Amino acid sequence: MFNLRLLAGLGTLGLTLVAGLVVAQPSPTVVPKATPLAASLSGNQMNLGPAGSVQTHTHTLFNAGPFTETFNLTATSRQAWPVTIAPAQVQLPPGVSTTLTVQVTLPANAWPGTVGLTFITATNTFITAPITLRARDSLLVQSNTALNIPPTQMGAWVGGERVYSLTTNISTTEFLPGLQTPTYGYNGSYLGPTLIMTTGEVLSLSVTNLLTEVTTTHWHGLHLPAEMDGGPHQGIEPGTTWRPTFTLLNPASTVWYHPHPHAAGTMSMPHGTHAPQLSTASTGQQVYFGLAGMILIRDSASAALGLPQTYGVDEFPVVVQDRNFNPDGSFREYPALQNRNLRKGNYFLVNGTLAGNLTAPAQLVRLHLLNGSNARFYNFGFADNRSFYQIASDSALLNQPITRQRLVLGPGERAEIVVDLSGLQGQTLYFANYSSELGGSYAGPNASDDYDGANYVLFTLNVSAPTPDPVTTMPATLNNIVRLTAGQAALTRTLTLNNPPAINGTVFDMDVINITTTYGTLEVWSFFNPTEDAHPMHIHDTPFQILSRNNALPPDYELGWKDTVIVRPFERVNVIKSFGTYADPGGPLMYHCHILEHEDDGMMGQYVIIDYQYLYLPFIRR
Ligand code: C2O
Ligand code: CU
Ligand code: CU
Repeated sequence: MFNLRLLAGLGTLGLTLVAGLVVAQPSPTVVPKATPLAASLSGNQMNLGPAGSVQTHTHTLFNAGPFTETFNLTATSRQAWPVTIAPAQVQLPPGVSTTLTVQVTLPANAWPGTVGLTFITATNTFITAPITLRARDSLLVQSNTALNIPPTQMGAWVGGERVYSLTTNISTTEFLPGLQTPTYGYNGSYLGPTLIMTTGEVLSLSVTNLLTEVTTTHWHGLHLPAEMDGGPHQGIEPGTTWRPTFTLLNPASTVWYHPHPHAAGTMSMPHGTHAPQLSTASTGQQVYFGLAGMILIRDSASAALGLPQTYGVDEFPVVVQDRNFNPDGSFREYPALQNRNLRKGNYFLVNGTLAGNLTAPAQLVRLHLLNGSNARFYNFGFADNRSFYQIASDSALLNQPITRQRLVLGPGERAEIVVDLSGLQGQTLYFANYSSELGGSYAGPNASDDYDGANYVLFTLNVSAPTPDPVTTMPATLNNIVRLTAGQAALTRTLTLNNPPAINGTVFDMDVINITTTYGTLEVWSFFNPTEDAHPMHIHDTPFQILSRNNALPPDYELGWKDTVIVRPFERVNVIKSFGTYADPGGPLMYHCHILEHEDDGMMGQYVIIDYQYLYLPFIRR
């Protein structure tokens, strides 16, 4: 249980008045009792139930102050569902608590997947010192839908290359009963297949664009030549196919793919492979409509660890996205009640399923978590607060499994976790977002909505019988990452994040190279965030290590390889990254905030890697 504790505002005022008195008639023996008035209300219950049911939860109201207080209680539903609270008023002597019972009726026609919110307030009637306590309960309308598991694409082995093919489609998807939502998808109506790749193989990918606008396909997290990256410079015109090819150098990890067009003016293409073009497409819109997919990279070292690795059996993708719907079922991009220019929603899709049900065996089960949302941060955990192992951050396995109860992911970040379901056959678990615990340190006051202050269930996990050959033990060692040190860096660059979205006061321009790096060197990039919102900062190509957060070593689960890092308000985060393998003075690579609306608004820059031994190559564009 999580206690909200608000001290009475007038306590401070009282002290101020007393201080004034002391000055007027110096009488050092008079020391007023400064005991603050205090009370607490247990907070933020979450629950779920079928449409048409009545759900009850309780809160404890405790008077921690020195006086008997009378509290008025109210409960209101964000969705205007019928709700009652009892008692409506209560008198509590000091040190006494009482139970409040809240009953909510889920309407019979409520859409499964709706996360109803109930706002509870307790306000005292004490004449001089108002106390208002608040809690936010959630009620997920259950569904019987199985959690979607995107199909895999293993790739065909053709002429020494692993061949994958993707096609962007315009389609519709049924998320809400009887309603078709216009969506985009890769090879399907929403999201895309999970690509299974193996380190060291030569990849040959084709992406055919059947949208009516330009798109690009970015391999988020892959270390590759700039022209294969799928950033804004690799536009795929409608009706055409893009065919990148490169050797997969990344180790075992969870990466992903998504569009990356930029709605800028004329694109002047490097390498002369594409004609200049005018784009009105936006990354935020194309991802919101469904273009995203996961990539699972396997390698021999990770295979030898014996981790759960049978896709769809003991290993599952978990792609979390929030969406908002119009009454006709179409996506609403900038919801009126929580506008603020971000595509944040009040419905939570996991692999494209609302309130899905996942069946997993009673053994070690591995989840590949991806925050594929445009703008929302999540604080994942299980509803019974069970602990789990985090085994990987964005770009690689961690050195050791790390035991956690909660795991925060910003947009674009990934993590792999293993949860031990041994002996739990027949039980039901709930995977949830504990956003209320994040306070204001992620979505600032102008970016947060009602759901940022709430906890709610994302999907249901039903534990079935173990498989015939279950994984039951966790390896103690997973990787041997050597930590880099600031002393290895050739230089440090400061990137100051701005609001309105920009970096170092500069808005993204397709035709400006912001940073030129030297092939074969390491650099420290120091992200400084003087804004009131957290920004998940992502750098293309090689991953990085986090050196420090406000000069302190980051927590143990942040000591591995990353490609996206959350920079909280008023924080300075230093990362170290090498610029190696591929130099290309004409091939810009992006760095940007992965809140896609910030990225589209220009909170992005581009860098090139130059090998000064080969300066005769076409020089930097301007
Ligand atoms: Cu996932 Cu430049 O992006
Ligand atoms: Cu990327
Ligand atoms: Cu941002």
